[in-house]
Amino acid sequence: MGLWTLDDIPWDKLDRSKVDPEILRTVKAASLVEQNGADYAQYLCNVFHDDPAFQEAARRWGEEEVQHGRALGRWATLVDPDFDHADASERFTRGFRVKLDARQSIRGTRSGELIARCIVETGTSSYYTALGEATEEPVLKAICQRIAADELRHYKLFYTHLKRYLERERIGFWKRLRVAAGRLVESEDGELSYAYYAANENAAAFDLRRYNNAYARRVYCLYRRHHVERGMAMIFKAVGLKPNGRLNMLAARLAWMFMHMRAERLGRRAA
Ligand SMILES: [Fe+2]
Ligand SMILES: [Fe+2]
Repeated sequence: MGLWTLDDIPWDKLDRSKVDPEILRTVKAASLVEQNGADYAQYLCNVFHDDPAFQEAARRWGEEEVQHGRALGRWATLVDPDFDHADASERFTRGFRVKLDARQSIRGTRSGELIARCIVETGTSSYYTALGEATEEPVLKAICQRIAADELRHYKLFYTHLKRYLERERIGFWKRLRVAAGRLVESEDGELSYAYYAANENAAAFDLRRYNNAYARRVYCLYRRHHVERGMAMIFKAVGLKPNGRLNMLAARLAWMFMHMRAERLGRRAA
């Protein structure tokens, strides 16, 4: 059980007049992706099969991720009663399934796995912070604040275990960087775009590029420079670089420019 439950959300404050339909589409997608937390927890328990302390933490973590999905799904259903969260979850799972049979990390080492988890939590913590600041709908704001705090705590959890495994495995900087870069690139590998498709589209067939762009167009425009700077500092820390040096500032500026330009280009194309 996490630090909060669905009963802590002030559902009675829901203000439908303040719902942005574009944000609603991305929230529906996020509600599906979060539900994969249980499968990812199972995968982590397989990879860390002889580390019961980490397994216990991973199971708790998975439950918290699933709760994120439930909270977002409930919000989306209240706003749009036609949205069938259970049905959309089923469609999503049919098209995208986490591989559960692994006994070793797909990142090569356990340290690599933990770096990848840190990158994911950097992404989710930045996303919910940005979303919570962007939305004017009070209930979604309250949900995002809670989830963003959880995601930051998850980052710290995986980072703590990463330090422990790095002492044992001693993987070098370039390997750490390669895992982090690989996981960043994977953010466009289909999980998010398929969730966006399963949550919002009924008729058309899935097209990776199309739904990647549809998702990115609605999400990239939510980020402000400070979200990107903080996210880059978290990535730097995970790969073993100074999180507040000049290199970090430069990387954050480039990332911010890239996201800003991409959001504008996709917005122009859709207009
Ligand atoms: Fe989450
Ligand atoms: Fe998380």
